[in-house]
Amino acid sequence: MKTQVVIVGGGPAGLLLGQLLHRAGIASLLLERRSGDYVLGRIRAGVLEPGTVDVLEHAGVADRLRTEGLTHDGVEIGYRGTRHRIALKELTGKHVTVYGQTEVTRDLMAARAASGAPSVYEAEDVTLADIGGTPRVTYRHGGKLHEVQCDFIAGCDGFHGVSRRSVPADALSVFERTYPFGWLGVLADFAPLWRELIYAASDRGFALASMRSETRVRCYIQCDLNDSLEEWTEPRFWEEFGRRVGSDIAARIPSVPALEKSIAPLRSFVAEPLRFGKLFLAGDAAHIVPPTGAKGLNLAVSDVFYLYEGLRSFYRGNSASGLDHYSARCLRRIWHSERFSWWMTRQLHQFPGDAFDGRIQQAEVEYLLESRAAQAVLAENYVGLPL
Ligand code: APR
Ligand code: PHB
Repeated sequence: MKTQVVIVGGGPAGLLLGQLLHRAGIASLLLERRSGDYVLGRIRAGVLEPGTVDVLEHAGVADRLRTEGLTHDGVEIGYRGTRHRIALKELTGKHVTVYGQTEVTRDLMAARAASGAPSVYEAEDVTLADIGGTPRVTYRHGGKLHEVQCDFIAGCDGFHGVSRRSVPADALSVFERTYPFGWLGVLADFAPLWRELIYAASDRGFALASMRSETRVRCYIQCDLNDSLEEWTEPRFWEEFGRRVGSDIAARIPSVPALEKSIAPLRSFVAEPLRFGKLFLAGDAAHIVPPTGAKGLNLAVSDVFYLYEGLRSFYRGNSASGLDHYSARCLRRIWHSERFSWWMTRQLHQFPGDAFDGRIQQAEVEYLLESRAAQAVLAENYVGLPL
C-alpha cells in the first residue's frame, strides 16, 4: 500500500492533522494503537486559546464547539484565602473557550469517519523504517502484517509513542524537568460553584477548580507522587480541595461520586529538533508541559497547523521551505509555552525548598496580584501567543 502521509497516533494532534490534510486534498493513513473508545476515555484539560479555535474552525470541526463551548473572560488566582481576578478580556481583548479535549477528539473522529479517510485502530507493533530516505511503516492488525510506503511520517503518538524513539539518540537533544508532586484530578457532576477557573495557591498545596459544562466540574489538588487513588476517597478529596480553594466554596460542595479520578505526574520536556529526515514530530511526541496553564493541547494544535502548512505548500507549490522551517518555527512557540507553564507551576505549588525560595515565591505572587503589568503578562500568555 502507498499513501502520501502516514500519521502515527490518533489523539487530537494526529486527528487534526488528518482533517486539515484531507481538506487540502492530501491523502493520509492514520494508525492508532488503542481503540477509539479507549482514546475517548482519557480525560485531559479543556481550555482552548482563540488561535486553537481558529484552527479548529479552519478544519471545519468547530460547530459543536461554537454552541457548547463556554466563553471565559477571566481566571482567578487564589492566594492565602483570598481570590483575585485576572481580567483576560480587558487586558488582552481576548477570551478562552472551555471545551473538553475529549469533545475536541470526538468531533475530529466524527469528521474523519465522515471524510472516508482511512484509519486503523488497534494497530499493533507500528514500526518506522528508512525515515531518512524512502520511508515505510509496518504494523500488525487482525493478525496480519501490513506495510505502507509514504512520502512523510507524522509522529503524533504522544510522549510514550514509537516515533520519537525511532530517531537515532544522537540526533535528538532532550531538555527535561520533573516536579516532586503530581495532580490528583476528579471529574464530577454538579453545577460549578465558580464562574471562572480558580488556580489556588495555599499553604496546603495547589488546587484548581475547573469545569466542563454548566453541570460538570473538573477539580485537581497537588498531591504526593506516592499517593494512591484508594487513599483519596471522594469525601477526603472534596474536604482537601475545599480547604485550598476557600471556605465559601468548601461549604457548598455536594457529596457526589467521582466519574473519573486519576493521578498525573508533572513534567516539562522538549525534544529537539522536531524533524528527522521524512519524520515530523508533533504534539506530546515532541514536548510535554505541566498542566498549569493548560497549554498541552494548544501547543499540539500549533505544531499541527505549521506541519499542515508545510505539507500543503510542498504538495501544491513544490516548495519545501515550510517543512525545512517546521522545527524552528514550532520550537520558538513551544519554548514560550514551556516557560509560561513552568512559571505558573513554580508560583502556585508548594515546593520542598529552602526558605529563600519560599520568600521569592511569595514576593512573586504578591507582585502579580498588585501589578496590572504583571497581570497583563499572565493574561497574554494564558490566552496564547500568536501562531
Ligand atoms: N502506535 C500507534 N499509536 C500510538 C503509539 C504507537 N506506537 N503510541 C501511542 N499511540 C497513540 C496513543 O494511544 C494516543 O492515542 O498516540 C496517541 C497520542 O495522543 P495524545 O497522547 O493525546 O497526544 P497528542 O495527540 O499529541 O495530544 C496532545 O494530549 O496529553 C495531552 O496535554 C496533552 O492536551 C495535549 C494533547
Ligand atoms: C481542566 O479543566 O482539566 C484543566 C483546566 C486548566 C488547566 C488544567 C486542566 O490548567
